[in-house]
Amino acid sequence: MKLTITGTSGFTGQNLIHYLVDYDIYKQSIRYVPNQEIYLDNTESIIHLAGKAHDLKNVSQPQDYYEANFELTKQLYDAFLKSDARKFIYISSVKAVADSVNDVLTEEIKPAPQTHYGKSKLMAEEYIKSQPLPEGKSYYILRPCMIHGPGNKGNLNLLYKFVSKGIPYPLAAFENRRSFLNIENFCFVVKELLVQDIPSGVYNLADDESLSTNELVSLIASCLDLKPQLWTIPKGLIKGIAQLSDVLKLPLNLERLNKLTENYVVSNAKIKKALKKEFPVSAKQGLQKTILSFKE
Ligand SMILES: NC(=O)c1ccc[n+]([C@@H]2O[C@H](COP(=O)([O-])OP(=O)(O)OC[C@H]3O[C@@H](n4cnc5c(N)ncnc54)[C@H](OP(=O)(O)O)[C@@H]3O)[C@@H](O)[C@H]2O)c1
Repeated sequence: MKLTITGTSGFTGQNLIHYLVDYDIYKQSIRYVPNQEIYLDNTESIIHLAGKAHDLKNVSQPQDYYEANFELTKQLYDAFLKSDARKFIYISSVKAVADSVNDVLTEEIKPAPQTHYGKSKLMAEEYIKSQPLPEGKSYYILRPCMIHGPGNKGNLNLLYKFVSKGIPYPLAAFENRRSFLNIENFCFVVKELLVQDIPSGVYNLADDESLSTNELVSLIASCLDLKPQLWTIPKGLIKGIAQLSDVLKLPLNLERLNKLTENYVVSNAKIKKALKKEFPVSAKQGLQKTILSFKE
């Protein structure tokens, strides 16, 4: 029996197929096509990673998100229900619940996504939960926060480039706490869900500890044997510059500013309780590994 994984050409998929080396993996690259019927033959479990992620350049149409994240998931989940497969692991996102978090994000919080990305992910989650589940089948809706790992080209890489060039970090006035998810912890959870008998449901994914962006800058600097340069500039002035950057297409636009300075603490208590295991990598260890990979 095979393991079918969608979206394997992406960052998470590439890491996952290397982690699950002992499995017979069928890499399924699919796109939404109206009325298409998907067949899942001889598949034990499906890991659905394919989707349209947040678009920092703002070039996507709303429909792109609903088709890639909702309609396609619906078609694949329907195929799962009709097939012999036993487990369906859907990679949603914490953004299906909230764009900003004041306290700690748990699975109890009522979802109120604001973006098309979050809304389309939530629609997919709701569809999965609304379908009667035949005996012997399970579904897992995973809500990861920002995943990082070697080779990852995201905001972490951008921050690394600034710090490595000796550019001072000008946002030290923003005191925040953020959760991250190391790719190794992500892969660990997925594998445990494949091998253990865990109840169906929604599970947040995040490393154990949260960090402030100032701590992150200091960690990057220490990996580079540099002294961290943290500048405390008034928040209003920074926000004005970020607004201008939106017009001038500079790297620090408002969306990136928010990502770097917002609070976003995610609880992983539910998944850890279900797995009855500790995560293999601490938040700092994982971040160090990712940061050191940028050096290569
Ligand atoms: N990275 C994160 O921080 C993060 C956090 C929370 C949730 N997630 C979710 O985790 C999943 C994987 O994320 P990732 O970072 O690996 O994303 P990624 O690097 O953008 O990869 C996504 C993959 O999905 C497929 N794909 C691209 N456009 C598509 C479309 N329009 N319709 C259907 N499939 C499409 C492609 O794979 P193929 O070419 O192989 O089909 C692509 O490589 C996504 O669903 C994402 O929303 C990611």
